[in-house]
Amino acid sequence: MNVNKLSRRIKKRLSKHSVGEHLAGLWFSRKFTEHGILVVSGWRPFPRVINEGGVIKAENCKFYAGVRIEVGPDATLTIGNGTYINRNTLIVSRENVTIGRDCRISWDVVIMDSDLHPLNSPTVIHKPVTIRDKAWIGCRSIILKGVTIGEGAVIAAGSVVTRDIPPYTIYGGSPARHLADVKTSGTNPNWETGS
Ligand SMILES: CC(C)(COP(=O)(O)OP(=O)(O)OC[C@H]1O[C@@H](n2cnc3c(N)ncnc32)[C@H](O)[C@@H]1OP(=O)(O)O)[C@@H](O)C(=O)NCCC(=O)NCCS
Repeated sequence: MNVNKLSRRIKKRLSKHSVGEHLAGLWFSRKFTEHGILVVSGWRPFPRVINEGGVIKAENCKFYAGVRIEVGPDATLTIGNGTYINRNTLIVSRENVTIGRDCRISWDVVIMDSDLHPLNSPTVIHKPVTIRDKAWIGCRSIILKGVTIGEGAVIAAGSVVTRDIPPYTIYGGSPARHLADVKTSGTNPNWETGS
């Protein structure tokens, strides 16, 4: 890449996120197994990663203050390009959590692929969670083990999701039920705006 092109790219990046947000992202990225350009917005409390021996991969993503990521031994967490994880969201991976590209994960969301305690069985059951590209998870929602959220689906604020959600649908409530469909399947959330 020539110098002019590089300087244009740097200017474009810095017009969206400050040097401080990039530096914070750089600091944060040391906890990741593989990563693109990470940015962190808001410092207190600084996002936390507790990795007990798993694999954490993220492309170019944005994290906000208070995010907490817990990845168990041999577990995997993958976060796709252009996705943001907003304030105080908790992600727990004991086996596998996959979040696609251009997803909007709002604040105070909980995503967990395990109940973390055994129930009617001697062992704890983990079931992977998959959130496909362009999904929007509303604030204070809870996504439970084994759930796949389809591409472009919307989860209304405060929902508890216990079953799979079809693509480009809007689900809400506890347990989440079908409310409507997303009309513009081409909607591409602008993660840069933050929330
Ligand atoms: C999902 C959402 C965007 C849908 O908005 P909308 O299309 O304007 O929806 P409406 O207000 O017209 O409601 C449609 C129906 O869904 C129901 N509904 C809406 N939000 C709901 C919720 N959080 N839980 C349960 N039901 C809900 C309404 O009661 C209504 O039902 P009815 O037709 O039986 O009366 C909106 O409800 C929502 O949750 N917004 C918050 C998003 C958020 O968390 N943003 C944070 C920043 S990322």
